[in-house]
Formats: sequence, C-alpha cells, structure tokens
Amino acid sequence: MRIEENKSLRNYNTFGIASNARFFVSVETIDELKQALSKKPSEELFILGGGSNMLLTGDLDAFVLHINLKGIEILKETETEVFVKAMAGENWHEFVKYCIEKDFGGLENLSLIPGNVGTAPIQNIGAYGVELKDTFESCNTVEIETFKEREFTKEECVFEYRNSIFKNEAKGKYIITSVTFKLTKKNHKTSVSYGDIQKNLSERNIEIPTIKDISEAVIAIRQSKLPDPKVLGNSGSFFKNPVVGSETFQEFRRNFPEAPFYEVSPTEFKIPAGWLIEKAGFKGQRFGDAGVHKNQALVLVNYGNATGKEIWQLAMDIQKKVKEMTGIYIEPEVNVF
Ligand code: EPU
Repeated sequence: MRIEENKSLRNYNTFGIASNARFFVSVETIDELKQALSKKPSEELFILGGGSNMLLTGDLDAFVLHINLKGIEILKETETEVFVKAMAGENWHEFVKYCIEKDFGGLENLSLIPGNVGTAPIQNIGAYGVELKDTFESCNTVEIETFKEREFTKEECVFEYRNSIFKNEAKGKYIITSVTFKLTKKNHKTSVSYGDIQKNLSERNIEIPTIKDISEAVIAIRQSKLPDPKVLGNSGSFFKNPVVGSETFQEFRRNFPEAPFYEVSPTEFKIPAGWLIEKAGFKGQRFGDAGVHKNQALVLVNYGNATGKEIWQLAMDIQKKVKEMTGIYIEPEVNVF
C-alpha cells in the first residue's frame, strides 16, 4: 500500500476529467483499507469506486481512497437459489457476465452499467424495469470512524429510485466492501416488459428468452443509445427523471400533451428528463468539449478536454432552460464535487 501525492484522477472517472488528488491510495484488502483509514494524511476523505457516477469540478484537496477489493464467492446455494458475494472493487458488468455464464438469474437487465459492485447499492442502480434492490441480499461495510465492520440488510438500506441510506443518514460514514445477491438457478423470473427489450427479442425471433438472450438485448440497446465511456467520457444519466405531483403534472400535460410519462401512484407522475432536455433544444448540442449526447439527451459528454466546471455550467444551463420552458425542475443524478 503506497500513498501517492498529486495523483491525476483522469483514468479513475468515466467522464475523463483531469483533476488531481492531494493524496491517493488504492487498497486491495480490508486490512489495507483499515490501515489507510488509520493513516489518513488529510482531514478530508474521498471514497472512490468505479468513478462512473461523479463529476469532479476541480482538484480534490483530500485523501482519495480507491476501493480495489476483488473476488467473487458463492456463499450458499439450494436447488433453486444461490447467494453470491462480490467484492466492492469488482467491475459491475464483469460480475453480471460471471452470473450469466453460470446461469444465475436476476442481473441480466442490468448488463453493461458502468461502475463497480460496491457503489451500485448507493444509488440503487436500475435499468430496463429492474433495480439492484430486486436481487440485493445484504452488504458488508467498514465504518470510517471506528474501522468496525457492519452488515446492512436490504431493509436497512432503504432503497428507493436512485436512492438509499448511503445517500442519506449513512452518507460519508461507511465504506461498502462487498455486496451479496440472491439469484435464481432455475425458473428465472425474467423481465422483458420494457418496450425495447421485447422489440429486440422479436427481431431475433426469440419467444422464450434465456437470461443470456436478455443480457444480449440490453447490451444491444445500451450500445445503440448510450455512449461507451472508454470512447466518449460520460457518467450515464446526468439527471434523475423528475417525479411531480398532480397539479404540476396537469399543467404540464395541458402544455405538452405529447410528452411520455409514467404513473408512479395516482398522485405522482414520472416524466423522462431526456424528453424534457430534448424539448429544450439541447440534444446533440456541443459547447466547446462539453456536450449533450446525440442519441440520449439525459447523458452529458466530454469530447476530450472539457473541465468539470464546463460540464457543470452546461448542466446548470439545461436545468434553467428546462424549468423555464416546461415548468419542471430536474435534479442531477451524479455526485458533484
Ligand atoms: N427520451 C427522449 N429523448 C431523449 C431521451 C429519452 O424523448 O433524448 C424519451 C424516450 O423516447 C422515452 C423516455 O424518454 O419515451 C425514456 O427514455 P429511455 O428508455 O432511454 O430511459 P430514461 O428514462 O431516459 C432511464 C435510466 C437509465 C436507464 C434507462 C433504461 C434514469 C435517470 N435513467 O433512462 O439509466 O438505462 O432508463 O431503463 O432513471 C443511468 O442511470 O445512468 C442510466 C443510463
């Protein structure tokens, strides 16, 4: 374990933003993690996972702790179910691929999501009708203040749409070291209701899809709409899809009867932020090296040398114009530092 100084984080965030960390260490075991916490050369601590859901708007005058814990383990299994534990530093998609190869069902709709296993519970990652919480069993953590290990059950995590206890009461207090999933070994409960998945399967004449077929469909859809961070820097959806009350929704519907929406409850309506941003005229626009993706307006991109401040400025311009034009306030989904 070696603590580095003034380390460039360009290769550690999927936006590809050039930002330097005052102190940096990558830990590969839980003991190393505890050692690093006890050494802490700077007051400010910054926990870094896959760097796929954050925007760095300047240098970090902090001790950056890169969680590089690896390993996948089957904890127990019955005839129909398996409990699989993955360490926090495992790449999310590599883990999904491992499950699909073993025919463990439940994560196939979450194929190709950037980031690591350990950060997935924080925002309860979700795509194509499935969320992490649907297969989450528990996670292990180390408490930052005491270095004590603590397990969180699913109930304790308080999962919601792109939200959990780790974004609220437990924020900045725990480091997730591993996550355990409860997956199916047979009679997989597949979820193909999301329009594009069904379409992709029909095009391939697949009537009863395997989890591998679904994973392939999701990969094809994502690749057609979402930019690959290795090619074009981005952090997935930059904003959350806003949920509004009846009054705001009725007024919005009067002005934009053509807008897609999803009824969350009789008094709550979710509106796709991608649609709102496109309506506000930003889709495919480029301002210097900061831009809005041409196929999915919810994704902001770095064409090469955009600074975090430039991406943030664009995000704020989008937020303002969307509010002025549609009356709807959209809120960032990525963590901004
Ligand atoms: N839309 C537009 N213009 C756009 C983008 C979308 O009009 O530029 C419309 C689409 O036509 C569609 C609706 O918005 O009617 C929804 O679009 P899409 O299916 O692409 O999904 P999304 O709501 O924009 C969410 C997640 C994605 C996830 C997809 C698929 C959030 C914030 N984003 O996007 O997650 O992959 O659903 O399930 O909930 C991420 O979080 O990083 C992410 C990529």
